[in-house]
Amino acid sequence: MQTFRPSGSSLKTLAVISSKGGSGKTTLSLHLAVAAEAAGRRTFIADTDPQKSAWEWRQVRSSPAPEVAVVQPAMLNRLKDGLERARFQLMIVDTAPFAGPGVLDTVRAADFTIIVARPSMLDLWSVEYSAEQVRSARGRAMFVLTQAPPRRGDKEAPALLKAAERLNTYGFPVASIGLRSRVAFSQSVGNGLTALETEPSGTAAREISRLAELVFGRLWPDSVPRNS
Ligand SMILES: Nc1ncnc2c1ncn2[C@@H]1O[C@H](COP(=O)(O)OP(=O)(O)OP(=O)(O)O)[C@@H](O)[C@H]1O
Ligand SMILES: [Mg+2]
Repeated sequence: MQTFRPSGSSLKTLAVISSKGGSGKTTLSLHLAVAAEAAGRRTFIADTDPQKSAWEWRQVRSSPAPEVAVVQPAMLNRLKDGLERARFQLMIVDTAPFAGPGVLDTVRAADFTIIVARPSMLDLWSVEYSAEQVRSARGRAMFVLTQAPPRRGDKEAPALLKAAERLNTYGFPVASIGLRSRVAFSQSVGNGLTALETEPSGTAAREISRLAELVFGRLWPDSVPRNS
């Protein structure tokens, strides 16, 4: 994986949102956090979802990083000050699967937001509202497609192409890298790990590493290659 040169000690906040349940917010948040730590960025996960899935993951994880805490969205700004003083460089905020005021607080506290969607119409209808929330908070965002079907030969599944086309009309770009549906993502998390750790040379690890580079490029534009 690419090693990033930190551009300073100031903390960046990344929100991961989607009003649709089960779209892959927590899986993505955990993988991005481990990718950031591997790249030398001290990372904190704020779990704002009452389901506390990220926090549960932390309970079965033996490695000391990343740190995870259950946080009320209204407390995020205060938490940022403390994390900045403790020299954290990234806070990833995992959110609840409903587009309530807490998500708006989260988006307002964030430097950048990822809106997660599976390539299905039910997800696409619901994330339009998530995009509206980011717009109303005057935030920056990108869509990331997750749990996408595999490519067949050179061909992407029609549902995936259609999803990307539709998301492109919602006012934020669609990431050129998404996550496909892969057992390595789901199985690793169940053991307090990520695919980066269970299968470091596998396809899932490559996929999340490329996506992480893209996301980190939005957060620290001066410290990653221009073509990411
Ligand atoms: N890329 C993926 N490949 C395979 N399985 C995945 C992937 N992403 C998520 N999953 C699985 O899908 C389910 C939902 O994922 P996850 O909990 O990350 O979604 P979520 O958006 O955080 O859900 P919630 O809205 O309930 O918080 C889990 O069983 C997870 O293991
Ligand atoms: Mg979740």
